[in-house]
Amino acid sequence: MKNSAQEEQGIVGVRHAELFQEMIPADVQSGGKMKIGVLTGGGDCPGLNAVIRAIVKTSSVKYGWGVTGIEEGFEGLNTPAKIRALTPWTIRGILPIGGTILGTTSGRKSRQIKKRAGNGRPINFSRVVKKNMKKHKLSCLIAIGGDGTMTIAKSLHDDGIPVIGAPKTIDNDIPGTDRSFGFQTAVNTATDALDKLHTTAASHHRVIVVEVMGRYGGWIALEAGIAGGADVILVPDPFQIERVCKAIIKRYEQGMRFSIVIVAEGAKAAGKKRSIIQASEEGSVERLGGIGTQVGEEIMRMTEMDVRVTVLGHLQRGGSPSPYDRLLATRFGAEAVKLVEQKCFGQMVCLKGNVIKSVSLAEATRKAKCIPIHGALVKTAEGLGISLGRE
Ligand code: F6P
Repeated sequence: MKNSAQEEQGIVGVRHAELFQEMIPADVQSGGKMKIGVLTGGGDCPGLNAVIRAIVKTSSVKYGWGVTGIEEGFEGLNTPAKIRALTPWTIRGILPIGGTILGTTSGRKSRQIKKRAGNGRPINFSRVVKKNMKKHKLSCLIAIGGDGTMTIAKSLHDDGIPVIGAPKTIDNDIPGTDRSFGFQTAVNTATDALDKLHTTAASHHRVIVVEVMGRYGGWIALEAGIAGGADVILVPDPFQIERVCKAIIKRYEQGMRFSIVIVAEGAKAAGKKRSIIQASEEGSVERLGGIGTQVGEEIMRMTEMDVRVTVLGHLQRGGSPSPYDRLLATRFGAEAVKLVEQKCFGQMVCLKGNVIKSVSLAEATRKAKCIPIHGALVKTAEGLGISLGRE
């Protein structure tokens, strides 16, 4: 007998899919007039399967179109193409599942796609994509991803390939959209961690430093820091460690013998030229990390308090998407298909306020969107007495 929640979900998914199958005529299920190629690129995040599902269902139910899944991001459009048909039947039960059923490639590999062939010579990737799209009868592409994916999507569009983008990333740093899906689930995970760390920090009268992801955006640190009641939030704006320590000592003197410090991986101390890079290879995205340990050591040295450091890492990318992210991903997927119907290619779906819109891929590939350092949310945090390690 099946009893886990996941299996339950599977059973419901299968039953629903059976009903669904009966509703749709066979010719529509196999795809008719239009065939959309869909891929997920860059680091995974919660909600990718939800957007794939929305694209497949909307295409099939509303327009009677077929969808082809491209595996491992843009890698799957190289020769031989790695593709498979996606139907309402094959995607049943994926809504609550983290990761991506299509697989993905991030950083180095996706950049190489643009630059070189197997023999090391530069290739015209657009030409390879065009050839494979023709071979597999794909009318257009929906590329789901972050900055790297949108950059490749833009270059394909510039070369005449019909592409639509859909923004995902836990970092929330894609310009042109107020939110990307995946972010809110990551904030939930980080907030949950802060709640758990509070009790142990308080019991042991310790300072706990928590390093979170988010690259240079600072969004996860700021939002989870406020939601999780952190005492110090360090975002990618130069901070002064003396001020951080002063805030911790002040709390101690007021009788609060523990503190929680949340640090964005892209944060850096005043006077440092750059954030701490863990790994950097030519042509790849730099891997950030290590600032939590550095901040922890400094606090221990300057306050003589007992300090522990927790690095949340890839935990923030996993798990089931929150209802907010499922909804946002579903709205993005449905809108992307609508843009295909309207033949509005070269656009990325986006959220402005609470309205789903679209922006050009050119706008979506501008400078990364970082927290407004003097914005309302930062002021709210400071008004609560949270230290940002600055004046
Ligand atoms: O962009 C998403 C992200 O999780 C960042 O927050 C982080 O810096 C990076 O990806 C980690 O990348 P990787 O999975 O290659 O270690």
